Amino acid sequence: MQQVDFLVIGTGIAGLTYAYKMASRYPDKKVLILTKADAEETNTKYAQGGVAVVRDWQNDSFEKHIEDTLIAGDGLCNEKVVEIVVKDGPERIQELIDLGANFDKEESGDYKLGKEGGHSESRIIHHKDITGWEMERTLLNAVAGMSNIEIINHCFVVDIITQHHLGYLVTKATPDIECYGVYALNQKTNDIETILAKTTYLATGGNGQVYRTTTNPAIATGDGVAMVYRAKGRIENMEFIQFHPTALYEPGLRGQAFLITEAVRGDGGILRNKKGEAFMARYDERKDLAPRDIVARAIDNEMKTEGTEHVWLDCRHMDQEKFIEHFPNIYEKCKSIGIDVSKDMIPVAPAAHYSCGGIKVDEWGQTSIKNLYAVGECSSTGLHGANRLASNSLLEAMVFAHRCFLHVSHKVDNNLLSEHPTRKLNIPAWNAMGTSTPKELILITQSLKELQQVMSDYVGIVRNNIRLERAIKRIDLLWEETEQLYKTSTLSPNILELRNLITVGYLIVKGAIFRKESRGLNYNTDYPYKSKLIQNIVL
Ligand code: FAD
Ligand code: SIN
Repeated sequence: MQQVDFLVIGTGIAGLTYAYKMASRYPDKKVLILTKADAEETNTKYAQGGVAVVRDWQNDSFEKHIEDTLIAGDGLCNEKVVEIVVKDGPERIQELIDLGANFDKEESGDYKLGKEGGHSESRIIHHKDITGWEMERTLLNAVAGMSNIEIINHCFVVDIITQHHLGYLVTKATPDIECYGVYALNQKTNDIETILAKTTYLATGGNGQVYRTTTNPAIATGDGVAMVYRAKGRIENMEFIQFHPTALYEPGLRGQAFLITEAVRGDGGILRNKKGEAFMARYDERKDLAPRDIVARAIDNEMKTEGTEHVWLDCRHMDQEKFIEHFPNIYEKCKSIGIDVSKDMIPVAPAAHYSCGGIKVDEWGQTSIKNLYAVGECSSTGLHGANRLASNSLLEAMVFAHRCFLHVSHKVDNNLLSEHPTRKLNIPAWNAMGTSTPKELILITQSLKELQQVMSDYVGIVRNNIRLERAIKRIDLLWEETEQLYKTSTLSPNILELRNLITVGYLIVKGAIFRKESRGLNYNTDYPYKSKLIQNIVL
């Protein structure tokens, strides 16, 4: 059993930013970070386009960024949160620059600002087409320099510990559910460890792996959301899954698809259908730079109408030197599969990309469970509403990591943190009695495939009631079978991720069933209108 003051789960932008700030402020206190993979393996690492932030004070303004965010969010953003995030952005990005992050500059020395869908101005600060890697690299370096931060890799958090583990009945109606720490599977020893903390901070990222193809890496299995749901915390707006319009189409590919950043369209790339028509003009006056929900739906419609598995992204007319300078990673990836972007169009199709909903938090990142915070893609702050504006995610993670840091520091400085859990409680060790290694791994891999199939076929870009009802029935069955297996199995990342993904799938479908309207990313042909009642779906 370990005890720490500050426990952080996840080594993406949300986890590392907070950990670094806490460790710097309290050099005599330990910050423990757990991650289930190598530290760098995060959604953050794969971010391409950049960070939306107002810097061009001549043409841009906070008001414009706020308005663009609200328009994309389709009536469901929390306006106060939008204002907080947009206005805090410049200071947060400056902190990262001060830590050594390099963003591309003009010859004048000003930062280059890219454009993406739904943005009325150029405001995307970036590092070529590997912005996320530059941010991850910077933060990992910073954290490595802190002697009071320990990162444990390959340590899979299974569940958060609450009164439930002390034998009390905990339901959604229980007031003051409290988090005492986590149970985590140390993948090196195969032991389930008990780690207790005064504050626990979830930064577990997204859940793209619940779909057949996704821009997200294998770690994106919605673990944080599933854990909080099991612990009876509040989850909201899970139906708003953002499909990125332009993932590289590679025949037969399952799992992580390579992204072709929206910034390519920002620099002039044009979407074309099988006939070569630049079709976006038929769907929206903003054409290829309309918000993502509109572009993804348009592509989906073109693919279904023409019976194709992809559309084309045409970059042949673009200045090739500039293309290679801004998008070297995309250029190389295309080249590696025989696509010369100066002569060939790039085959692209939508893929699951971002979870706009998640663990419900207040404006300081506090969840509905005491001493438990959630930041980054696993959280739902109200910034994104029904559809996230491009490049607002890294921004949100930085701003909320900072706000959590302020909130927890205030508690520390004023002696408001709860007493250490072990002082008053007798928290039991994990009980693995009666479990054994599953004999057939196929029971797990096949169920995962089924889940991804159901989600992609029935709960994709366009939904309807029959599909959703079918999906929930099949997910219920998968859940029953997997719970059985879970109870009798020695724990492994495979079974834990399957279980979490089934929970996440269930929450997405339930949210979509309860939302009897088409808004933002939830497009249901049985309700092709917006309801007058604007509400968050909280589960
Ligand atoms: P992540 O960076 O995903 O980190 C999650 C961490 O939690 C990982 O370390 C993981 O191992 C750990 N973890 C998860 N579950 C457990 C568990 N059970 N136990 C222990 N550890 C666990 N956003 C933008 O704003 N701009 C962009 O240009 C952009 N481009 C993108 C391109 C791609 C291809 C993708 C996939 C996303 C992009 N996004 C972009 C979205 C953005 O990158 C993510 O939303 C953001 O990085 C999420 O950061 P995070 O810290 O919340 O989670
Ligand atoms: C992209 O670069 O197109 C992704 C940006 C984002 O998800 O915000």
